[in-house]
Amino acid sequence: MTQKNPKRIALIFGTRPEAIKMAPVIKALKNRSQDFEPILIATAQHRQLLDQVLDVFELTPDIDLDLMQDNQSLAGFSSRAIQALGDCLHSTKPDAVLVQGDTTTAFIGALAAFYEHIPVGHVEAGLRTYNFEAPWPEEMNRRLIAPMARWCFAPMPSARQNLLAEHIPDARIFVTGNTVIDALLITAGHVEKHPPQIPGLKDDVLQHPKMILVTGHRRESFGEPFENICKALREIAETHSDVAIIYPLHLNPNVKDVAQTILAGHPRIHLLEPLAYGPFVRLLKDCRFLITDSGGLQEEAPALGKPVLVTRETTERPEAVEAGNSILTGSDREKIVSCASRLLEDEAEYQKMAQAGSPFGDGKAAERIVDILHLKWDV
Ligand code: UD1
Ligand code: UDP
Repeated sequence: MTQKNPKRIALIFGTRPEAIKMAPVIKALKNRSQDFEPILIATAQHRQLLDQVLDVFELTPDIDLDLMQDNQSLAGFSSRAIQALGDCLHSTKPDAVLVQGDTTTAFIGALAAFYEHIPVGHVEAGLRTYNFEAPWPEEMNRRLIAPMARWCFAPMPSARQNLLAEHIPDARIFVTGNTVIDALLITAGHVEKHPPQIPGLKDDVLQHPKMILVTGHRRESFGEPFENICKALREIAETHSDVAIIYPLHLNPNVKDVAQTILAGHPRIHLLEPLAYGPFVRLLKDCRFLITDSGGLQEEAPALGKPVLVTRETTERPEAVEAGNSILTGSDREKIVSCASRLLEDEAEYQKMAQAGSPFGDGKAAERIVDILHLKWDV
């Protein structure tokens, strides 16, 4: 009997969230070595934030394009990436390319594959706000990938409906759950057994019963909206003497510099370097609630029973808002402060949000994706 060669699957990723959400898919492909050979291609749209994730999941890119520049523009990074990924796919000739999410790496990765006539699988397809300004430019990126994809791996039934409404053929859409829950459950298990240190944070802060975990980085919030969010955080710390705010700052200078100007110096606001995924998951488990604009955290927090104040005007992950776990506050200072105060003071309201349930997956999304690649290669 002749043995078939494994299919060579290139996984293209560049930023922190893509790597976290691709790690379970890479693992699942490696577990099926008779059928698949993963090829890891990093654009390194992020350098340090990406390397932190690669370390945690013990991943080494087969090809590292090392494209990040300080304070890069969207056009600048896109042009470097299309050239480098085009050359890379032309010489590597994988059987398929997988991209994840809505970043410039994901969009340009899909486009480069399309130019090489290589089939594309889109992990986390179909999320929509239907507002091209928010999240910007991600809503456009994610939307443009869909028609290029042979396989649209929709995390939720709502994403499937969005794709159908855009005339993506039903046969190409597969509801899988979100791979971030796979990554979270694996990591939370390790953290439970061996709680990691949090670099830059004294242990007594971790015992704080009212710890608020904060992240923020969205481009559409740069300037006044982001300043308002930071002012709200300061007001929360000043008006609640029992609160500690932990904020690992994103490395984007448009975020880091503003946050430091407004928030540094307060004894109960702890500005940290970006954390590796293990320590970050420990904070996620230990905090009372989150204030964030992160896409991934809107999915992870409900899985650990943590309420979220989403500092965005709109979300492509409506399930957590509908379930009652998350509230959209935008960058409205008063609204952020009043919602946070309620979560700090009103135990019934807090419990209602904390127990709203976890809609985004069961930890088996990556296995489903690999099964679909195996069974539905020619859809
Ligand atoms: C990108 C994605 C966004 C995603 C976010 C995750 C796009 C358009 N945006 O946004 O969808 O939610 O990543 O965090 O794809 N920097 C470093 N080191 C790093 C990472 C970033 O110094 O490890 C700094 C650099 O100055 C870099 C800047 O941050 O130029 C911006 O990085 P970039 O990837 O262009 O955009 P993000 O705002 O991080
Ligand atoms: N995260 C992390 N360390 C941090 C902050 C966030 O590991 O200091 C994780 C977080 O748990 C989530 C992901 O990074 O899985 C979110 O990344 P980011 O906010 O950069 O991007 P987004 O989710 O908004 O696309």
